[in-house]
Amino acid sequence: MTSDMKWIEVNSYDEMSEVAADIFTKQLQAKPTSILGLATGGSPVGMYKELVKRQQAGNISFNDVITFNLDEYVGLEQSSPASYWTFMHENLFNYVDIKEENIHLPNGKAENLDAECVAYDARIKEAGGIDLQLLGIGVNGHIGFNEPGTSFDSKTNIVELTESTRTENAIYFDDFKDVPTHAITMGIQSIMNAKEIVLIAFGEKKLEAIEKLKSGIITEDFPASQLLNHPNVTIIYGGTK
Ligand code: GLP
Repeated sequence: MTSDMKWIEVNSYDEMSEVAADIFTKQLQAKPTSILGLATGGSPVGMYKELVKRQQAGNISFNDVITFNLDEYVGLEQSSPASYWTFMHENLFNYVDIKEENIHLPNGKAENLDAECVAYDARIKEAGGIDLQLLGIGVNGHIGFNEPGTSFDSKTNIVELTESTRTENAIYFDDFKDVPTHAITMGIQSIMNAKEIVLIAFGEKKLEAIEKLKSGIITEDFPASQLLNHPNVTIIYGGTK
């Protein structure tokens, strides 16, 4: 493999969270005005907890930080308990010194969703581009909500969620039928524009995806594989079969 990808194997979810939080801490200490790309899901919860602790201890500040989240469901109100807006507030934003106007998530309730997609990429560009992007990975290799088959050239776009992704995410809803069928997500190209990327994955379910990534084969059937073409990616992973 000719990729520069950096691999860090960890022994526990907590260790993964700490190692990832260390990278974010370094970033914020080096550049307090950082533009961060953030993710939702079970994987980043521990890292966010760690960052909250560090902010409350005065080691880092979000006061001048701007954030852009990867994705949001189409059709959910911001205030919906299952929206990614709510997730981010409950897991990070409510507990740190970030300014509300510096928080960005795609608007899944926009009247004109196509215009919202274009506007979202423009907002990222205007802010100066993402310095450090956090990613989780879906069991089918999706990043953000970019499902297998997504073009590597994709910008922020509207996607139809696969059955596998809707099933994985059903735990956040009362009923499977409530899981939205569509989402708005930063595209693979939008993600690749970040200066640095950290992908976190822990547990048995994720191992197959990690093994596939390690194999070094770059294909649109496995969206995360495009990261092999990025010059500054760290994968923090672990878990046993
Ligand atoms: C969702 C999100 C992804 C996330 C993935 C894995 O589909 N859109 O950004 O990476 O879930 O989530 P988890 O970390 O809960 O396994």
